[in-house]
Amino acid sequence: MVSTVFLTPSMRTRVGFALAAARLGGSAVEVSELRIDPSMSAGESFPDALRTLTGMCDVVVTRTPFDLDRELIASEAQCPVVNGGDGGVEHPSQALIDLAALESLDVPLVDAHLVISGDLTMRAVRSLLVTLGRNVPGRLTLCGPASRQGHGVVLHPALAAVTTVTDEADWATADVLYLAGLPARRGDDELSSEIRLCYAFTDAAALPITASVLSPLPVIDEIAPSLRLDPRVSMFRQSDHGLHVRVALLEHVLV
Ligand code: CP
Repeated sequence: MVSTVFLTPSMRTRVGFALAAARLGGSAVEVSELRIDPSMSAGESFPDALRTLTGMCDVVVTRTPFDLDRELIASEAQCPVVNGGDGGVEHPSQALIDLAALESLDVPLVDAHLVISGDLTMRAVRSLLVTLGRNVPGRLTLCGPASRQGHGVVLHPALAAVTTVTDEADWATADVLYLAGLPARRGDDELSSEIRLCYAFTDAAALPITASVLSPLPVIDEIAPSLRLDPRVSMFRQSDHGLHVRVALLEHVLV
Protein backbone atom coordinates (compact mmCIF):
# COMPACT_ATOMS: atom_id res chain seq x y z
CA MET A 1 0.00 0.00 0.00
CA VAL A 2 1.46 3.28 -1.14
CA SER A 3 0.17 6.66 -0.05
CA THR A 4 0.96 9.53 -2.38
CA VAL A 5 0.86 12.76 -0.34
CA PHE A 6 1.04 15.46 -2.98
CA LEU A 7 0.43 18.92 -1.55
CA THR A 8 1.54 20.77 -4.69
CA PRO A 9 0.77 19.99 -8.34
CA SER A 10 2.33 16.99 -10.05
CA MET A 11 1.33 14.74 -12.89
CA ARG A 12 4.29 12.47 -13.71
CA THR A 13 5.49 11.76 -10.17
CA ARG A 14 2.05 11.39 -8.59
CA VAL A 15 0.56 9.19 -11.30
CA GLY A 16 3.87 7.39 -11.90
CA PHE A 17 4.15 6.15 -8.33
CA ALA A 18 0.48 5.11 -8.25
CA LEU A 19 0.97 3.11 -11.46
CA ALA A 20 4.22 1.65 -10.15
CA ALA A 21 2.37 0.42 -7.05
CA ALA A 22 -0.26 -1.19 -9.30
CA ARG A 23 2.46 -2.82 -11.43
CA LEU A 24 3.80 -4.42 -8.26
CA GLY A 25 0.36 -5.79 -7.38
CA GLY A 26 -0.31 -3.12 -4.77
CA SER A 27 -2.42 -0.02 -4.74
CA ALA A 28 -2.08 3.67 -3.97
CA VAL A 29 -4.14 6.04 -1.88
CA GLU A 30 -3.88 9.67 -2.85
CA VAL A 31 -3.80 12.45 -0.27
CA SER A 32 -3.92 15.95 -1.69
CA GLU A 33 -4.74 18.01 1.38
CA LEU A 34 -4.03 17.84 5.08
CA ARG A 35 -5.78 19.40 8.01
CA ILE A 36 -3.04 22.00 8.34
CA ASP A 37 -5.06 25.09 7.43
CA PRO A 38 -5.15 27.23 10.59
CA SER A 39 -8.71 28.28 9.79
CA MET A 40 -9.95 24.72 10.28
CA SER A 41 -11.52 23.83 13.57
CA ALA A 42 -8.90 21.15 14.20
CA GLY A 43 -5.70 21.70 12.30
CA GLU A 44 -3.04 19.01 12.05
CA SER A 45 0.68 19.40 11.59
CA PHE A 46 2.48 17.79 8.67
CA PRO A 47 4.66 15.70 11.04
CA ASP A 48 1.57 14.31 12.79
CA ALA A 49 -0.12 13.54 9.49
CA LEU A 50 3.03 11.88 8.16
CA ARG A 51 3.43 9.80 11.30
CA THR A 52 -0.20 8.66 11.02
CA LEU A 53 0.04 7.78 7.32
CA THR A 54 3.36 5.96 7.65
CA GLY A 55 1.71 3.77 10.29
CA MET A 56 -0.92 2.66 7.77
CA CYS A 57 1.08 2.19 4.55
CA ASP A 58 4.13 0.35 3.26
CA VAL A 59 5.57 3.43 1.49
CA VAL A 60 4.65 7.12 1.51
CA VAL A 61 5.62 9.32 -1.43
CA THR A 62 5.54 13.07 -0.80
CA ARG A 63 5.52 16.28 -2.82
CA THR A 64 5.58 19.29 -0.53
CA PRO A 65 5.84 23.07 -1.00
CA PHE A 66 8.27 23.14 1.94
CA ASP A 67 11.61 21.41 2.55
CA LEU A 68 11.29 18.00 4.19
CA ASP A 69 12.81 17.59 7.62
CA ARG A 70 14.99 14.50 7.14
CA GLU A 71 15.69 14.09 10.87
CA LEU A 72 12.00 14.18 11.68
CA ILE A 73 11.23 11.58 9.03
CA ALA A 74 14.06 9.36 10.20
CA SER A 75 12.81 9.47 13.78
CA GLU A 76 9.04 9.41 13.24
CA ALA A 77 8.22 7.58 10.02
CA GLN A 78 7.05 3.99 10.40
CA CYS A 79 7.71 3.09 6.76
CA PRO A 80 9.98 4.37 3.97
CA VAL A 81 9.23 7.89 2.74
CA VAL A 82 10.14 8.71 -0.86
CA ASN A 83 10.74 12.37 -1.63
CA GLY A 84 8.78 13.12 -4.80
CA GLY A 85 10.06 16.72 -4.81
CA ASP A 86 10.25 19.09 -1.84
CA GLY A 87 10.32 22.86 -1.78
CA GLY A 88 13.23 24.06 -3.85
CA VAL A 89 15.61 21.48 -2.49
CA GLU A 90 15.51 18.02 -4.05
CA HIS A 91 13.77 15.82 -6.59
CA PRO A 92 15.74 12.58 -6.26
CA SER A 93 13.37 10.24 -8.09
CA GLN A 94 13.52 12.56 -11.12
CA ALA A 95 17.31 12.39 -10.94
CA LEU A 96 17.14 8.59 -11.15
CA ILE A 97 14.90 8.85 -14.21
CA ASP A 98 17.32 11.33 -15.75
CA LEU A 99 20.20 8.97 -15.04
CA ALA A 100 18.34 6.05 -16.64
CA ALA A 101 17.79 8.21 -19.73
CA LEU A 102 21.44 9.30 -19.80
CA GLU A 103 22.60 5.70 -19.52
CA SER A 104 20.34 4.61 -22.37
CA LEU A 105 21.96 6.97 -24.90
CA ASP A 106 24.47 5.82 -27.52
CA VAL A 107 27.36 7.82 -26.05
CA PRO A 108 28.50 6.33 -22.71
CA LEU A 109 27.98 8.89 -19.97
CA VAL A 110 31.61 8.63 -18.95
CA ASP A 111 32.58 9.96 -22.40
CA ALA A 112 29.71 12.37 -22.93
CA HIS A 113 29.68 16.15 -22.84
CA LEU A 114 26.52 16.93 -20.86
CA VAL A 115 25.18 20.48 -20.94
CA ILE A 116 22.55 21.46 -18.39
CA SER A 117 20.95 24.68 -19.56
CA GLY A 118 18.41 27.04 -18.01
CA ASP A 119 17.54 27.56 -14.36
CA LEU A 120 20.30 25.81 -12.44
CA THR A 121 18.57 26.50 -9.12
CA MET A 122 15.72 24.08 -9.90
CA ARG A 123 15.40 21.09 -7.58
CA ALA A 124 15.58 18.65 -10.51
CA VAL A 125 18.96 20.12 -11.45
CA ARG A 126 20.16 20.05 -7.86
CA SER A 127 19.30 16.36 -7.47
CA LEU A 128 20.80 15.53 -10.86
CA LEU A 129 24.06 17.20 -9.80
CA VAL A 130 24.14 15.05 -6.66
CA THR A 131 23.52 11.92 -8.74
CA LEU A 132 26.18 12.89 -11.27
CA GLY A 133 28.69 12.94 -8.43
CA ARG A 134 28.44 9.14 -8.49
CA ASN A 135 28.03 8.89 -12.26
CA VAL A 136 30.47 11.43 -13.61
CA PRO A 137 30.14 12.46 -17.28
CA GLY A 138 33.17 13.10 -19.45
CA ARG A 139 32.44 16.81 -19.31
CA LEU A 140 29.69 18.90 -17.70
CA THR A 141 28.73 22.43 -18.69
CA LEU A 142 26.27 24.32 -16.48
CA CYS A 143 24.80 27.08 -18.54
CA GLY A 144 22.32 29.72 -17.37
CA PRO A 145 21.90 33.42 -16.68
CA ALA A 146 24.02 34.61 -13.75
CA SER A 147 20.99 35.09 -11.50
CA ARG A 148 20.00 31.42 -11.93
CA GLN A 149 23.41 29.74 -11.58
CA GLY A 150 23.33 29.37 -7.79
CA HIS A 151 22.38 25.69 -7.50
CA GLY A 152 23.92 25.47 -4.02
CA VAL A 153 25.10 21.87 -4.45
CA VAL A 154 28.63 21.08 -3.30
CA LEU A 155 29.83 19.12 -6.30
CA HIS A 156 31.66 15.84 -5.79
CA PRO A 157 35.36 16.60 -6.48
CA ALA A 158 35.37 14.24 -9.48
CA LEU A 159 32.39 16.09 -10.94
CA ALA A 160 33.79 19.52 -10.09
CA ALA A 161 36.96 18.61 -11.99
CA VAL A 162 35.04 18.24 -15.28
CA THR A 163 32.52 21.08 -14.74
CA THR A 164 32.40 24.53 -16.32
CA VAL A 165 29.83 27.19 -15.42
CA THR A 166 28.91 29.79 -18.01
CA ASP A 167 26.15 32.17 -19.01
CA GLU A 168 26.87 31.51 -22.66
CA ALA A 169 24.50 29.06 -24.33
CA ASP A 170 27.07 27.42 -26.58
CA TRP A 171 25.98 23.85 -27.25
CA ALA A 172 28.19 23.19 -30.28
CA THR A 173 30.05 20.28 -28.67
CA ALA A 174 27.23 18.86 -26.56
CA ASP A 175 26.37 15.16 -26.68
CA VAL A 176 23.40 15.73 -24.38
CA LEU A 177 21.50 18.95 -23.80
CA TYR A 178 19.42 18.83 -20.61
CA LEU A 179 16.95 21.70 -20.77
CA ALA A 180 16.02 22.58 -17.22
CA GLY A 181 13.49 25.26 -18.15
CA LEU A 182 13.75 28.91 -17.24
CA PRO A 183 10.68 30.37 -15.52
CA ALA A 184 10.36 34.14 -15.97
CA ARG A 185 9.49 34.74 -12.30
CA ARG A 186 8.64 38.21 -11.00
CA GLY A 187 10.28 41.02 -9.06
CA ASP A 188 14.05 41.26 -8.65
CA ASP A 189 14.58 37.82 -10.18
CA GLU A 190 12.47 38.44 -13.30
CA LEU A 191 14.07 37.51 -16.62
CA SER A 192 13.18 39.19 -19.89
CA SER A 193 11.87 37.14 -22.80
CA GLU A 194 15.03 38.07 -24.69
CA ILE A 195 17.29 36.51 -22.06
CA ARG A 196 15.08 33.44 -21.63
CA LEU A 197 15.17 32.87 -25.38
CA CYS A 198 19.00 32.62 -25.29
CA TYR A 199 18.66 29.34 -23.35
CA ALA A 200 15.87 27.83 -25.43
CA PHE A 201 16.35 25.26 -28.18
CA THR A 202 15.17 27.36 -31.10
CA ASP A 203 17.95 26.85 -33.64
CA ALA A 204 18.40 23.31 -34.99
CA ALA A 205 21.96 24.13 -36.05
CA ALA A 206 23.01 25.12 -32.52
CA LEU A 207 23.31 21.48 -31.52
CA PRO A 208 25.26 18.61 -33.12
CA ILE A 209 23.13 16.32 -35.26
CA THR A 210 24.02 13.34 -33.04
CA ALA A 211 23.10 15.03 -29.75
CA SER A 212 20.09 14.24 -27.55
CA VAL A 213 17.80 16.74 -25.83
CA LEU A 214 16.42 15.82 -22.42
CA SER A 215 14.04 17.60 -20.07
CA PRO A 216 12.58 16.68 -16.69
CA LEU A 217 9.26 18.01 -17.99
CA PRO A 218 7.00 19.85 -18.03
CA VAL A 219 8.41 21.98 -20.85
CA ILE A 220 7.54 25.67 -20.52
CA ASP A 221 8.75 27.18 -23.78
CA GLU A 222 12.39 26.06 -23.86
CA ILE A 223 11.86 24.00 -27.03
CA ALA A 224 10.54 25.81 -30.09
CA PRO A 225 7.31 24.27 -31.43
CA SER A 226 9.06 23.74 -34.78
CA LEU A 227 11.67 21.54 -33.05
CA ARG A 228 9.34 19.40 -30.93
CA LEU A 229 9.51 16.62 -33.55
CA ASP A 230 13.26 16.93 -34.08
CA PRO A 231 14.64 13.38 -33.65
CA ARG A 232 17.18 14.63 -31.12
CA VAL A 233 14.40 15.69 -28.74
CA SER A 234 14.19 12.66 -26.46
CA MET A 235 12.23 13.97 -23.48
CA PHE A 236 9.32 11.58 -23.86
CA ARG A 237 11.64 8.58 -24.24
CA GLN A 238 13.18 9.93 -21.04
CA SER A 239 9.83 10.12 -19.24
CA ASP A 240 9.02 6.60 -20.49
CA HIS A 241 11.78 5.39 -18.16
CA GLY A 242 9.82 6.86 -15.28
CA LEU A 243 7.50 3.97 -14.60
CA HIS A 244 10.31 1.39 -14.58
CA VAL A 245 12.46 3.55 -12.33
CA ARG A 246 9.58 4.08 -9.88
CA VAL A 247 8.80 0.34 -9.83
CA ALA A 248 12.48 -0.35 -9.08
CA LEU A 249 12.53 2.35 -6.42
CA LEU A 250 9.46 0.98 -4.64
CA GLU A 251 10.90 -2.54 -4.78
CA HIS A 252 14.18 -1.22 -3.42
CA VAL A 253 12.64 0.49 -0.39
CA LEU A 254 10.31 -2.44 0.34
CA VAL A 255 12.96 -5.16 0.69
N1 CP B 1 9.09 16.01 -13.65
C1 CP B 1 8.15 16.10 -12.69
O1 CP B 1 8.41 16.04 -11.49
O2 CP B 1 6.88 16.22 -13.17
P1 CP B 1 5.60 16.40 -12.25
O3 CP B 1 5.72 17.73 -11.54
O4 CP B 1 4.44 16.35 -13.21
O5 CP B 1 5.57 15.28 -11.25
